[in-house]
Amino acid sequence: SMSTAATYETIEVRPLTPTVGAEIHGVKLGEPLGNQQFQEIHDALMAHQVIFFRDQDMTLEQHKDFGRRFGPLHIHPSAPGPEGHPEVLRIHADENSKQVAGHRWHSDVSCDPEPPMGSILHLHTVPPNGGDTLFASSNAAYEALSEPMKAFLGGLKARHDGSPNYNRRARIDGKAGDQVYPSADHPVIRTHPVTGKKGIYVSPVFTQYICDVPEDESKAILEFLYAHNRKEQFICRFSWEKDSVAFWDNRAVQHLAMWDYFPQVRSGFRVTVAGDKPY
Ligand code: SIN
Repeated sequence: SMSTAATYETIEVRPLTPTVGAEIHGVKLGEPLGNQQFQEIHDALMAHQVIFFRDQDMTLEQHKDFGRRFGPLHIHPSAPGPEGHPEVLRIHADENSKQVAGHRWHSDVSCDPEPPMGSILHLHTVPPNGGDTLFASSNAAYEALSEPMKAFLGGLKARHDGSPNYNRRARIDGKAGDQVYPSADHPVIRTHPVTGKKGIYVSPVFTQYICDVPEDESKAILEFLYAHNRKEQFICRFSWEKDSVAFWDNRAVQHLAMWDYFPQVRSGFRVTVAGDKPY
C-alpha cells in the first residue's frame, strides 16, 4: 500500500515535509535500475508526489532511459529539444533572459488532451543561491476542502489552452506569437489513476475558465482554488545543487520556479513522461 508504513530496501527516503516531497538516496539514475529499485522509486513518487535526488551526473541518453522506465516520453508542443533529442526540454536562464520556464504555478502542459504524467528535471548548472522550485500538493489541497465544496467542484470542467501562454512567451522573445497550441477540457478535480486520490487540476498558466458557468463565477472559483492550493501547508521547497534531479507527478502537484537569481546562470534538461486523459 501507499501508506506511511511503506518500507524500502533498495533506497533511502527522507521526506521534506509531512505532506509533499522526499529526497531519495542510494541510487544512481544513470545506471540501469533493477526491478525492485524501480518499483521503490515509483512507490516513493506515489507516496510523496515529488522526489529529489542529489549528485546525479547524467547524459541525455541516461536521462531519457530513466524516464522511459516510467512510460513513453512526451514531446513538448512549443520548445524543440537539443539536436537529436526531441524528447528533451532545455531549461535555461542567464543574464540575457527576459523570462524563465515555470515562473507561475502550473502542472506541465495541462493544455494537452493527454497531459504528461511526470517531469524529470536535471540541473547541471545552478546559481550560487536562489533558484528554488516550489511544489504544491493538489491532493492535500483537495482533501482540505469542505465536503460541500468538494461536491460542487466535482461536477465541473475547465478549459485549458496552450496558445495564450506559449504565444505570450514567444512575443517576449521577439517572435510573432501567433501559433495554435493544444487545448482541452479537463475535470476541475481529477482522480489519480494510481493512488485513486482526488486533486485540484486547475492552475494559472493554462486554465482559461470553468466551463458552463458565468465569467464572474469562473474567475472567483479559480482565484479561490489558486490561493487555496498555494497555502504553505501544501507546499515543499527544493533547493538545487549541481546535478540535483527533481521528478514530479503532474497529476498530484503543481509547481513554480523561483527567478530570484538574475543575472546568474541556472541550466539543465527536462525529460517528460507521457500521461493519460484526466478523469
Ligand atoms: C518547469 O516548470 O519545468 C521548470 C521548473 C524549474 O526550472 O525549476
